Amino acid sequence: MLDVWMHDLPPSRAELIERSRGVDGLLCLLTDKIGGKLMDAIGPQLKVISSMSVGVDHIDVAAATARGIPVGNTPGVLTDATADQAFALLLSAARRIPEAERFLRAGKWITWQPNLFLGADFADATLGIVGFGRIGQAVAKRAQGFDLRVIYHSPNAKPAYGARAVDLDTLLRQSDFVSIHVPLTQKTRHLVNAAFLAKMKPNAILVNTARGGVLDQTALYNVLKSNQIFAAALDVTDPEPLPMDCPLLELENCLIVPHLGSASKKTRDMMSLLAAQNLTAGLKGLRLPNCVNPQVYKNHAGI
Ligand code: DGY
Repeated sequence: MLDVWMHDLPPSRAELIERSRGVDGLLCLLTDKIGGKLMDAIGPQLKVISSMSVGVDHIDVAAATARGIPVGNTPGVLTDATADQAFALLLSAARRIPEAERFLRAGKWITWQPNLFLGADFADATLGIVGFGRIGQAVAKRAQGFDLRVIYHSPNAKPAYGARAVDLDTLLRQSDFVSIHVPLTQKTRHLVNAAFLAKMKPNAILVNTARGGVLDQTALYNVLKSNQIFAAALDVTDPEPLPMDCPLLELENCLIVPHLGSASKKTRDMMSLLAAQNLTAGLKGLRLPNCVNPQVYKNHAGI
C-alpha cells in the first residue's frame, strides 16, 4: 500500500506519526523532522528512510544507524543547479539587480545617471569557497569563466579548477566574494557568526546556498545594516519559511530567495527518481544506491 501526503504544507508532527505508523519505508522531504522517537513510533518493521534532498540535517542519522535503518539521499544530481544558483545570487547581489528592479517598478527611473546602482566588479576579484565538496567545486568551475581568483577552505579537499587551499582567516581576509557550501552539522551551526563576518572585506559579498543554520542571521543583520560588508545573498534561512518580520527583510543589501538551489525541472525530476530508487531498494532489502549511513550494512549479513 502507498500513502502519499498530498498537501502543500508538510504534515504536523501528530499527522506524521499517525500516517507513518506501521510503514515499511518512508520517503520524506527536508521539511520533515525525522528523529529517533518518530522511528520508534513507526515501528521495528521500518526498513528505509529516503529523503528527496542531499542534505540530511533534518534526519537523526545516528538514531537511524542505531536502529539499523539505512538513510538515502540524492547527491550529485543537484550539484550543477545549486552551483548555478550560487552564481546567479552572487551576480545579482554584485550588480544589485533585485534592488534596481524594485526601483524601476516603483517608477523612480528618471534618467541615466553615472552613479546609479553602482555594483561590484568581477574582473580581478577573489572568490572564497567555504566547503569544497561537489557543489563548492562546481562553483569554482564556473568562476574560471569569470576570471575570478579562487581560494577555498575545506579540510581534506584536494585542489580543483585552479582553486588554492587556504586557512579560513586567509580566505575571509582575501575574498571579495564568499560562498558557503558546508553541510549543517553541530560543528558548522553558526560557523558564519560575528567573528567570521568581522574578518570579511568591507566590499565583500556573502552567498549562502547551504543551510540557514550555518549563519547567525542577527550577526549578518548587524554587519549589513552598518555596511561593514557590501551585501549578502541567501537561498536558505533559519527558520524556513522566513517570518515576514525578520529584520533582514528591511535591508536593501540583503537578497533572499525561498530555498531554490535545486529548483530546476530536470534536477527535481532526478531527485525524485533517486529518492524513489533508494526507497524501493530499501524495501527490497537491497543496498541503497545512495546511502548516508552505510555502516548499517555491516550488521546485515547477505547484503
Ligand atoms: C538539498 O537537497 O539538500 C537541497 O537543499 C534542496 O535544494
